[in-house]
Amino acid sequence: MKNVPHKTPLPEGVGVGKVMRIRGVVPNKAGRFYVNLLCSDEKDSEAALHFNPRLDESTVVFNTLEQGKWGKEERGKGIPIQGGQPFEVLLITTPEGFKAIIGDQEYHHFRYRIPAARVRLLEVGGDVQLESVRIF
Ligand code: GAL
Repeated sequence: MKNVPHKTPLPEGVGVGKVMRIRGVVPNKAGRFYVNLLCSDEKDSEAALHFNPRLDESTVVFNTLEQGKWGKEERGKGIPIQGGQPFEVLLITTPEGFKAIIGDQEYHHFRYRIPAARVRLLEVGGDVQLESVRIF
């Protein structure tokens, strides 16, 4: 298990075709966790993607954080992650956006508001037992 928040530097940004794989287990009485694709290591960093599974709301929120402000939320339908169960999330950079695969389903395709080339850091935090983060 890895301590959270857990940061993975992405010094060259994320080009099209990058696959970011996050594996973990959601605690039994789970609340929320997040995967942020941040534009810098500073505390006020913008986020090109905030991927936020909310087990308390049975959804996953997708958003950006730009100049300290959350943008318009996008939400997927339902949530293929269960409390007490292991999960695998793939975030894939496509020419149009970040595609989120959860388990074996394509869950949501989030269109870029901030280009993937600006991403410098992947951060995982919140209510999650983090097993691994791999970049392919
Ligand atoms: C807010 C929440 C933030 C973030 C944001 C995404 O309500 O406090 O942590 O998830 O929504 O739009």
